[in-house]
Amino acid sequence: MTAIDLRSDTVAMPSPEMRQAMVTAPLGDDVFGDDPTTNRLMEVAAERMGKKAAAFVPSGTMGNLIGIAVNARSGEELIADADSHAFHYETAGAAAVCGVQIRPVVTDAGVMSPRQIVEAVRPRDDPHQPLTAAVTFENTHNRHGGVVWPLDDLRAAADAARSQGLRVHLDGARIFNASVALGVEASEIAACADTVTFCLSKGLACPIGSIFCGSEDSVEEAVRWRKRLGGGMRQVGVLAAAGLIALDHMVDRLAEDHANARTLAEGLAELPGVTCDLRRVQTNLVFFDLQRMPAAMFTDECAKRGMLGAATAPQRMRFVTHYGIDAEDVQSVLKICEEVLTA
Ligand SMILES: Cc1ncc(COP(=O)(O)O)c(C=O)c1O
Repeated sequence: MTAIDLRSDTVAMPSPEMRQAMVTAPLGDDVFGDDPTTNRLMEVAAERMGKKAAAFVPSGTMGNLIGIAVNARSGEELIADADSHAFHYETAGAAAVCGVQIRPVVTDAGVMSPRQIVEAVRPRDDPHQPLTAAVTFENTHNRHGGVVWPLDDLRAAADAARSQGLRVHLDGARIFNASVALGVEASEIAACADTVTFCLSKGLACPIGSIFCGSEDSVEEAVRWRKRLGGGMRQVGVLAAAGLIALDHMVDRLAEDHANARTLAEGLAELPGVTCDLRRVQTNLVFFDLQRMPAAMFTDECAKRGMLGAATAPQRMRFVTHYGIDAEDVQSVLKICEEVLTA
């Protein structure tokens, strides 16, 4: 029996069309700039983000690290949400690799107010303090439950950052979830940032890859950083081919993942000993708290019944809907959860 896997949207398998495209893609050495499929994907990706250029990177983590490297120098500071992926889950790459210090800002739902940004900027005339170079925003926001930044809030935050002379990087790992939820083009969201990283290997179901986008200068610098980090890849068109299919066919269907997440969250909220903040279930992530059972035990019991989820804290769980999960799976998951919680 194949498990119903809700641990992450990264577990989504490539579609049959992607696999086919990967087999037949025209290829070349991308480090020489010779891979036609990658070059085509970079054109399409840059256009979708409303940026001048793009570079394929192996992961969202590398894309964000490059975003930090091109927007801040060693010894400078970058403002980030205290719950951001960059601060929590990227093994302190900003510090370890770029020499950049992250200044965490605590927010309610990942949305940094203009005031918070202005207040986090260091005075430039104090030689004791680092210079603040940049800010990074995350949209949708993972640890805050997949919430979407309201576009006006994002624009206001970006304006505040720019008024302080900061550069803006957007961790848009799930930018298409945000664009589908808001009913706007991803480029409208990306317009709030100088550079953006988005992931092909999450809701878009590609096997590997993320894309870094920005101005021609930023991408030129990004490609140098990518080489330094060992991320220059050769016939990477085998992966880019899947990315082209994803941008054409996998974006609109994210609405299905959002609807499934909603049904799942509403069902979970009815179960005994479960609290789920339904206001935060805006895209494909569902976080919920367990009152009667440790999350680790709940996870084990669910796994025994053929369903995988992620314990993110002692009493907290995360389920993620994706291309591999349909409405019927959601009903099976709810049955399993009820059985485990009432056993
Ligand atoms: C918001 C966010 N940013 C960045 C990443 C990093 O992506 P990757 O796993 O491809 O390194 C993730 C991964 O889950 C994420 O959720």
